[in-house]
Amino acid sequence: MTQPKKLFIKTYGCQMNVYDSERMAEAMGGQGYVQTDSPDDADMILLNTCHIREKAAEKVYSELGRYKGLKSERPDLKIGVAGCVAQAEGEEIMRRQPMVDLVVGPQSYHRLPELEAKARGGEKALDTDFPEEDKFERLKSRPKAKRGPTAFLTVQEGCDKFCAFCVVPYTRGAEVSRPAARILREAQELVERGVREITLLGQNVNAYHGEGVAGARWSLARLIWALDEIDGLERIRFTTSHPNDMSDPLIEAHADCKKLMPYLHLPVQSGSDKILKRMNRAHTAESYLRVIEKLRKARPDILLSGDFIVGFPEETEEDFQATMDLVRAVEYGQAYSFKYSTRPGTPAAERPQVEEAVKTERLHRLQDLLWSQQRGLQKRMVGREVSVLFEKAGRDAGQMVGKSEHLHAVHAYAPDVEIGELRQVRIVESLTNSLTGELL
Ligand code: SAH
Ligand code: SF4
Ligand code: F3S
Repeated sequence: MTQPKKLFIKTYGCQMNVYDSERMAEAMGGQGYVQTDSPDDADMILLNTCHIREKAAEKVYSELGRYKGLKSERPDLKIGVAGCVAQAEGEEIMRRQPMVDLVVGPQSYHRLPELEAKARGGEKALDTDFPEEDKFERLKSRPKAKRGPTAFLTVQEGCDKFCAFCVVPYTRGAEVSRPAARILREAQELVERGVREITLLGQNVNAYHGEGVAGARWSLARLIWALDEIDGLERIRFTTSHPNDMSDPLIEAHADCKKLMPYLHLPVQSGSDKILKRMNRAHTAESYLRVIEKLRKARPDILLSGDFIVGFPEETEEDFQATMDLVRAVEYGQAYSFKYSTRPGTPAAERPQVEEAVKTERLHRLQDLLWSQQRGLQKRMVGREVSVLFEKAGRDAGQMVGKSEHLHAVHAYAPDVEIGELRQVRIVESLTNSLTGELL
């Protein structure tokens, strides 16, 4: 038997990249590759990249720089760049970094085995097309190995919204939803491999409108109700959602579907209507707050998470205060906040920019507020009984770590509990980034 080749994948960016990396690793399994945790003994290094902010994109080149030594020692080592930087920069990557053998955009992963063969043959391999076919359907994988209790499942890709700051519509292409039957089949398979919780993924997951099982198109709410029927699947989550696609049936599912978890990531970006308009977000602060109000009516204990951008072009102190007001009104359990980063080719890049020092100072103020809300909501869990899905062993002997329904990390002394078990836990303490509980 020939020795398996070793593949090292490093993943940047969002959960969709995490899912893509898993699928690429499986597909390369069919080409005789096994995954390795270290670049040092790899036959192929694949960087799955993110283009969302300047820093994210620049990381790729500094990472590639680190492999120079390896590549000159072992010219047989193949180096590939996948993901959103690959899509955005294409051939330019090979010009800037000639040791790169392969560049593959996010919609062409089904061609990875072919591209790898080409690169092995000593040619440069590049594919950044947006083909019609479902790449996941064409990415054939090996017999199914056992998995951990949680999994991502991409149901929708791309974005047609064109927010003025964002590269995603260019790197991931137009919105496409996968047919429901394929998603249900994949979910069933994941459950058979040990998965208990599935997070449905999409750049605009709540705009899902895939071909339904009987033909007519299904909404995300319809898809969730179909997943609800899978025995052995205990929890359903979805991310990321756009406020304008938060339909009433989807909000009602939060009230009625027991498997749908009381947690929602609903980015708003800014609380200023002037800025929202310039961002091309197509919603106002008030329409966003109305959605939140409906959600809380449907599921009073729902925990909200958001994304924020400070220092968008022409953002004044007053605009920033409107963001602070909105944050105070919502109270977030989790949040991601960023300084606006100018992305070439996007409309906002052409507008008058806010000074870096102002952005930094606003980000600090916003993060202080978000952090205090986050801590406050976490503390309120103390004394409550929560259900925890245990995912792995903790640092101390007999300790296990899992996630609550609200996505808080919980650890507990639970020597007899197995990975993948759901157990009731009483929360006794709130630490910086996690909760401590006692098994009931
Ligand atoms: N599709 C999702 C997520 C897009 S990217 C959505 O619409 O919410 C994730 C987050 O990155 C965005 O929500 C936004 O807050 C941030 N982001 C995107 N482009 C950015 C930029 N140019 N500068 C700073 N942050 C940005
Ligand atoms: Fe980017 Fe806006 Fe699309 Fe989200 S909705 S991916 S922020 S363009
Ligand atoms: Fe980054 Fe692409 Fe995701 S730009 S955030 S990896 S869609």
